[in-house]
Amino acid sequence: MKNIVLLGFMGTGKSAVGRALAKELKYRFVDTDQRVEEKSGKKIAELFTENGEAYFRELESQAVQEAVQQGACVISTGGGAILNPKNLEALRRNGFLVLLESDPEVILKRVQKRAGQRPLLQGPDPLAEIKRLLEERAPYYRCADFTVNSSYLRVEEVTRAIKKKVLEIEGRENTR
Ligand code: S3P
Repeated sequence: MKNIVLLGFMGTGKSAVGRALAKELKYRFVDTDQRVEEKSGKKIAELFTENGEAYFRELESQAVQEAVQQGACVISTGGGAILNPKNLEALRRNGFLVLLESDPEVILKRVQKRAGQRPLLQGPDPLAEIKRLLEERAPYYRCADFTVNSSYLRVEEVTRAIKKKVLEIEGRENTR
């Protein structure tokens, strides 16, 4: 079975849903941000400050390439991972791409709960920055095979919607 790849902006629930989905499907779970932290021995925010975004993106790319090798894996990606065409190519070739979307105001509330963890949103007007980045990234996120709006759904509800879709597709593939 192909991997299931969760894409989407910060605060859309990729990590929580990814973990729950992997458990449901009995897949392995890989979170690319977590892999970057393990590789560097630093928290993402620290890594951005001490080594810069370009270095973070390099480690993120390595984490993506390693994750897709596995198969039967739920991969939760950092919100900017698919901006790199190489990452997108690898994820698309080896996975079913699921986009989690949320309203900017909902994203802001969620990221504020973990203040200081999102280096890209540390400016004076994080809501405006969220809206700007969402607009800039919209064409990239459009590559998804399936989209769930997670603004007002609980983790279990989002997980159930993705699982239903995956089983549907698997069923179709098995009858070919
Ligand atoms: C980023 C999203 C973050 C993390 C880094 C950069 C982005 O991951 O990879 O801070 O560019 O959108 P989450 O989407 O898991 O918060």
